[in-house]
Amino acid sequence: MQSFDVKPLGPLGVEVSGIDLDRGIDAATAAALQDLLLDKEVVLFRGQQLSDAALLGFARRLGTTKGHPLGKFSAPGFPDVLISSNVMENGEPVGIRDIGQFWHTHGSYLPVPYQYTLLYGVEIPHDDNGTPLGDTLYLSATAAYDALSPALKNEIGKLVAIHSYDYRYSLRVEQNPHVLAASTSKDDARHPMVYRHPVSGRPALFVNEGYVHEIEGMPRERAEVLLKELFAHLQKPQFAYRHKWKAGDLIMWDNVSTQHNAVPDYKLPQRRYMKRITIT
Ligand code: SIN
Repeated sequence: MQSFDVKPLGPLGVEVSGIDLDRGIDAATAAALQDLLLDKEVVLFRGQQLSDAALLGFARRLGTTKGHPLGKFSAPGFPDVLISSNVMENGEPVGIRDIGQFWHTHGSYLPVPYQYTLLYGVEIPHDDNGTPLGDTLYLSATAAYDALSPALKNEIGKLVAIHSYDYRYSLRVEQNPHVLAASTSKDDARHPMVYRHPVSGRPALFVNEGYVHEIEGMPRERAEVLLKELFAHLQKPQFAYRHKWKAGDLIMWDNVSTQHNAVPDYKLPQRRYMKRITIT
């Protein structure tokens, strides 16, 4: 196994140093990183220089990679490597723009949410003083669950929420009519609001502002009040880590135990160019 050092990032997350991912990792190192993800929920590597093949090779050490429905925004020759970017070339976007600018969990609208996501920063926008822009916010949904009152734990313990992809995209299309043309999914899923992690069994508060606006069997007004309370709780600073990007950062996270949100505080000519892989 390759040895590495680990340093905490905040209430969740660790930075791992001492591994050059471009050289590949062995099975024992992959298992150790999976344990770390399970425990710390977000894992960061700085200073990586990764070809698409190396990025994909690393991801496949952790699980089965899954292409995005918008295949035209994949890296050439790598359908499972999604480009997320505001960069335009010859008047055309080179990747999906404005992705994930709300609190969400990847694939929570699927019967089985994605297990991990990897996000690799190639170009990071910054302001005139060199301060990076386009941060990604993370929260720990397991820590948020643990901190709920016993009464609230009891109330939500048997409830099921509806996670809807179309709900989010109909909101986005109000702001940008081009988005709907890009939406190919009609998925909805029902998930317990207290979701047991498939590996650790640890309970997470599994409702996100991005995809959830209904609770099964509950009148809409009551559901809105309860969800608003839970979203406010999830987003408390004590459960959060804000990642300030540098080019060469690779960050990966456990989707069941966390939520994330991309901060849209930049615009061209400030360029953001990221590569993303989801793992089942
Ligand atoms: C996402 O994958 O949802 C977007 C995250 C980001 O680009 O910061």
